[in-house]
Amino acid sequence: MPQASLLRQITDFANRANPYPLYEELRRTPVLHEADGPYVISSYYDIEALLHDPRISSDAAKMTATGDDELSEPETTGLPPSFIRLDPPEHDRLRRIANSSFGPPHRPTRIDSMRGELAQIVTDLIDGFGDARQIDVVDGCAYPFPVTVICRLLGVPREDEPRFRAWVDPIVAGLDPDTRTSAESERVAQEARLQLGMYLNGLVEQRVKEPRDDMLSDLVNSRGPDGAMTTMEVLTTAVLLLIAGHETTVNLITNGMLTLLRHPEYLQRLRQDPILSVKIVEELLRYEPPVQLLPQRTCITDIEVRGVTIPKGSRIWLVLAAGNRDPERFKDPDRFDPDREDLQHLGFGSGIHSCFGAPLARLEAQIALSELARRLENPRLVEDPPPYRPNAVLRGPRHLNVDFDGLN
Ligand code: HEM
Repeated sequence: MPQASLLRQITDFANRANPYPLYEELRRTPVLHEADGPYVISSYYDIEALLHDPRISSDAAKMTATGDDELSEPETTGLPPSFIRLDPPEHDRLRRIANSSFGPPHRPTRIDSMRGELAQIVTDLIDGFGDARQIDVVDGCAYPFPVTVICRLLGVPREDEPRFRAWVDPIVAGLDPDTRTSAESERVAQEARLQLGMYLNGLVEQRVKEPRDDMLSDLVNSRGPDGAMTTMEVLTTAVLLLIAGHETTVNLITNGMLTLLRHPEYLQRLRQDPILSVKIVEELLRYEPPVQLLPQRTCITDIEVRGVTIPKGSRIWLVLAAGNRDPERFKDPDRFDPDREDLQHLGFGSGIHSCFGAPLARLEAQIALSELARRLENPRLVEDPPPYRPNAVLRGPRHLNVDFDGLN
């Protein structure tokens, strides 16, 4: 059956560099279902509607096994589920407490106040290129940046950052289905999760006794209507921020640099006008979204989509990257066009689980891309397409080697 092979082609590594023709084919069957597999939704308006539908659950406990399990997240922490895998009311309570520290409306947020610090981290990373004339954008900038930012946000002391990063590396590597298959790398990741959990636990205990101006202190000492989080809830939330905000941001920056190098007119404009990074990042979230699909939704009752009945208990995949290129929603969807009037996308999801870290992710990508554009003299791609990571959900290059003539 041609449809059955389409899903396999999407997850097939051979198509990682350019899955967009496959998504176009997928949209011809807006509700695709193959034996034992998930129901796959690929048009913009259907995805958007389902993300707002309370009959669709994100709760890990309601998940049934299907043939798509190689795309599920591995057990990342050994901790109870964090709020990304919970439904209301628990989801809403925990997200509200986290939000009261991260970005309460109507006052300057913790994120706004980090702008100068973020710029300094990027400057230090780029200065670290030294006299090199070729760099890997992933290892040199995009990868180390988000983890340093999360450390500062949570309140990890500077002197502990190297230790923290050493635990995070194997955990993040373990998110990739390819690396996960090795027993040795799984053992290393498991050990790192344990160490990271114990370390964070110690930090939380300190913050209970002696609060500081950081997010961990806010979470344990919150005095809002929802009260504070328990130590376990703080741990799961801290690890969630770390995992959800890491590879996603790495991929946004790397996909961004790749796209700019393929569209040099925008690279040139960005060099002269860093404010253009705001539009560029929004268009990137549509054109090359770091999260290609959401494979972990279940319907808690029968639902009907485009005349197809999806039975209670079925797994649903929402293919954000296919919706983002839906011609019913976007004019000329395969064109990278930061000047389009309607800079909308599903790159951060939508509805109650829409990306909690979006303001931070946007700022990180805007700063990293505008600084790379400004400081790299005459950058050129070494390899196009670059080598990709195996992951079909969190899609992005493993390396992005760039030649350049010097640093500004
Ligand atoms: C949720 C994308 C960066 C924290 C999500 C979702 C998407 C997404 C698509 C929806 C998941 C779902 O509906 O199941 C991205 C992208 C990022 C990014 C593309 C970078 C470019 C970040 C950062 C953080 C973060 C930097 C934290 C510092 C979260 C959290 C959730 C989430 C906590 C769960 C929200 C909830 O369940 O209410 N993200 N994310 N993300 N993201 Fe992000």
